[in-house]
Amino acid sequence: MKNYTSINDIDNINSWIEEAQELKANPLKNIELGKNKTLGLLFFNSSLRTRLSTQKAALNLGMNPIVMNVSGDAWGIEFGDGTIMNGNTAEHIKEAAAVVSQYCDVIAVRAFPSLTDKEKDESEQVLKSFVKFASVPIVSMESATGHPLQGLTDAITISENSTKKRPKVVLSWAPHVKALPHAVANSFTQAMQKMDVEFVIANPEGYNLNPEITKDTPIYHNQKEAFRDADFVYTKNWSSYDDYGKILNTDADWMITKEKIGAAKFMHCLPVRRNMVVEDAVLDSDSSLVIEQANNRTFAAQLVLKKILENE
Ligand code: CP
Repeated sequence: MKNYTSINDIDNINSWIEEAQELKANPLKNIELGKNKTLGLLFFNSSLRTRLSTQKAALNLGMNPIVMNVSGDAWGIEFGDGTIMNGNTAEHIKEAAAVVSQYCDVIAVRAFPSLTDKEKDESEQVLKSFVKFASVPIVSMESATGHPLQGLTDAITISENSTKKRPKVVLSWAPHVKALPHAVANSFTQAMQKMDVEFVIANPEGYNLNPEITKDTPIYHNQKEAFRDADFVYTKNWSSYDDYGKILNTDADWMITKEKIGAAKFMHCLPVRRNMVVEDAVLDSDSSLVIEQANNRTFAAQLVLKKILENE
């Protein structure tokens, strides 16, 4: 594998899950693999889990991670081709990506969408520019439309916690005060479509995800109906896709409660707003897998880096 920018880069999700679990059982097994290799982590947006777990994954492989908050600390990067750079951007991506490639053996990039320009967001300009102009492999740490490290993590977590051969997994929208990206929901959907699970999505009218992602996944506008017999309830807010980037609804009736999820396990990628997205009683209960998910972020990233290093 050269780059990891999408869940579609996973050839066999079951074998990836198995391999990630082996790394979890013995995290330092491949400590020599990344010796004298450098991982550059470039953040155009904030992070807690991705920033720390990806560094931890690199360290477990013997790599040296170096981190930069691009938006705050680097020169403003121009992505347009042929632009007369007489504005706020001081450095073109052609040089920036090539220069970072001199210092790093793998580059990981986080760049969120604008949520104001669907076409531009879907072009994945930042991520694809790094793929095009860097001379080393690229890993997405969440782009405009996907969060494949999180999606792989969630597949691992469901596999570890499933007591059934084919569990029912529900992805449920929940209310939020800010307009949020579709990336986590998209990658989770793509990951579940690769697994042997009964997968459904619950969201209010107007919040259907990109149909090119959801494909034939059943979509319910009645949360209660969707939650019937669920084994896992994965919750995430996202802004409208059709009315792009807009908040159409902050209906508290969609908040996740203990009563609603019953015996199902609760999942969320974090960070999560308590008593807005999900009530305390769920997060503070044994039903919650959110900390296990955060732990598994390390092993998802470690597996991806291992596969890239083995391919070098
Ligand atoms: N889940 C996740 O990506 O968390 P961070 O935004 O804190 O990295």
